[in-house]
Amino acid sequence: MDARGEFQMNETATATTTPNRIASHKTAEAMIVMEHVNKWYGDFHVLKDINLTVARGERIVLCGPSGSGKSTTIRCINRLEAHQSGRIVVDGIELSDDVRQIEAIRKEVGMVFQHFNLFPHLTVLENCTLAPIWVKKMPKKEAEAIAMHFLERVRIPDQANKYPGQLSGGQQQRVAIARALCMKPKVMLFDEPTSALDPEMVKEVLDTMIELAEEGMTMLCVTHEMGFARTVADRVIFMDKGEIVEEAPPEVFFTNPQNERTKQFLGQILNH
Ligand SMILES: Nc1ncnc2c1ncn2[C@@H]1O[C@H](COP(=O)(O)OP(=O)(O)OP(=O)(O)O)[C@@H](O)[C@H]1O
Ligand SMILES: [Mg+2]
Repeated sequence: MDARGEFQMNETATATTTPNRIASHKTAEAMIVMEHVNKWYGDFHVLKDINLTVARGERIVLCGPSGSGKSTTIRCINRLEAHQSGRIVVDGIELSDDVRQIEAIRKEVGMVFQHFNLFPHLTVLENCTLAPIWVKKMPKKEAEAIAMHFLERVRIPDQANKYPGQLSGGQQQRVAIARALCMKPKVMLFDEPTSALDPEMVKEVLDTMIELAEEGMTMLCVTHEMGFARTVADRVIFMDKGEIVEEAPPEVFFTNPQNERTKQFLGQILNH
């Protein structure tokens, strides 16, 4: 089976357990749809009318100044944060307060954070098997076999019995990616996965992400690695002050940005 098929293996399993999947509607064709999404933290309007559609297999890079709402946007997609108005649909399932909908979406969406968020008291292997065993009710042996498969894919099978604290930052982040892949997600969300790493470790994590992209994974990546954006992204989206200000394919985004705020941002990050 090719890797693209591998990531879609859970299609049948989730289809039978997923409530209220939207059928025969344009939102069912896209992997992620955000329509007129607004969010406030108290009085602070953090997301302002966000409209974003991510097609199956599409790779998006989300960038923008600190505090512009990038993390909040992707955290809304798997309901780590709740939006207050508008719609978010992932693989045909609309996010609502219904816990079953949230659980169904979380099974399909893998997330990798800036600070890895591995469990320090569990080995690398146990970090990878925890969710498949407890969330998917997978037998331990099967979960371990899948974990080893993905640890090999991120090139650290030899670290399986170590604890996260015994690994370098780059290795820990690759464990975090393998751990997310063990749930066979249809979408991967990355929130600045390389920004806490020493420079020499950035490449090994980006290489893993590039391989994932080449295998057809749908990816939404918050990153300021503009080389990665140029190589991998189908579209680059620029956010500022809670709004999507500009979006374009990388060759247009970097050479011919339209909006003043985008130009200013690119000037800062490309020239330092
Ligand atoms: N839990 C919270 N309560 C109140 N305000 C918050 C909360 N989380 C984030 N914010 C505010 O919302 C805004 C957007 O935050 P967010 O983390 O989405 O920005 P970001 O674009 O990811 O920034 P960075 O590049 O620094 O990670 C910021 O002004 C932030 O201070
Ligand atoms: Mg952030």
